[in-house]
Amino acid sequence: KRPAGAPDAKLARPVTKVGVVGAGLMAGQFALLFARLLLVPVVMTDIDAARVDKGVAYVHGEVDKLLAKGRISPDAANRTRALVTGSVSKEAFADADFVIEAVFEELTVKKQVFAEVEAIVSPECILATNTSSLSVTAMAEDLKHPERLVGFHFFNPVAVMPLLEIVRAPKTDDAVLATAFATAKSLRKTAVLVKDAAAFVVNRVLLRLMGEVFAAFDEGTDAHTADNALRPMGLPMTPFTLLAMVGLPVAQHVTESMHEAFGERIAVSANLQALIDAGRKGLWETAEDGSQSVP
Ligand code: CAA
Repeated sequence: KRPAGAPDAKLARPVTKVGVVGAGLMAGQFALLFARLLLVPVVMTDIDAARVDKGVAYVHGEVDKLLAKGRISPDAANRTRALVTGSVSKEAFADADFVIEAVFEELTVKKQVFAEVEAIVSPECILATNTSSLSVTAMAEDLKHPERLVGFHFFNPVAVMPLLEIVRAPKTDDAVLATAFATAKSLRKTAVLVKDAAAFVVNRVLLRLMGEVFAAFDEGTDAHTADNALRPMGLPMTPFTLLAMVGLPVAQHVTESMHEAFGERIAVSANLQALIDAGRKGLWETAEDGSQSVP
């Protein structure tokens, strides 16, 4: 069944090579997925060789884990490793037909990246952004070919989260959108078309939820109690565990952009900022007896 709002799948174009801008954790996770499931070369770039090497090494390490678990055959592991390479130069994208970015969540940074990529790739090459909160419409503004930009938002951990939000900007053309849906299907994700609005659908709900748990904590409820009160609601992770997985600074950054868009509906927590300033990776410290507390 065609997902709501998706164009005719017949319009989809083949994807034969993928470029990934940014070799961080999110990028590494989906580089692996593209190589494993699309079976096409994937080249990762970043601002220096150390970052690129780290990104490629992460992918190769994940392949080793899959092999050790017996999830992939030795042949598939070798093929996947060979498909994922790195380069410090975006020239490596010259023959790519799908380039996706996962760089810092700042509009000017993403626009700069796409301007550089557009100078290298063919006019048909699709540009995708993994932004979780920024306007895809604004990102397309200065492109020579704004019709080729689409939002392609994965969730963490990419390997196991089935959802993918696909974002259409006003100028995104049908063939680009159809290719995005076909690619999502090949990646075995459930793709939904969402409106280009701050934080799309999932993050605006998730961050509101985390924000309210933080508000209960800020207002004096014990943090552990506030967090664990949601456990019997059937959530796969408590809100603060999820927060640590997403990363405190990333969550705060997204919350700030959502606060700009939604005002008082999305509160920025002073406690969260204090934890970030203290260099904390999560909320909890686990004591020897297994009890957890906010230090
Ligand atoms: N990378 C790869 N695989 C992972 C993984 C990771 N980081 N974390 C877990 N897995 C795999 C495990 O290896 C395991 O696979 P196997 O069965 O092959 O061993 C499988 O997932 C299940 O893991 P576990 O049994 O250890 O744990 P679980 O049943 O508690 O599931 C979870 C883990 C899937 C992460 C689950 O807790 C969950 O769904 N959590 C919520 C995640 C969520 O809400 N993500 C959205 C984050 S917001 C975001 O991403 C938005 C943004 O833009 C900032």
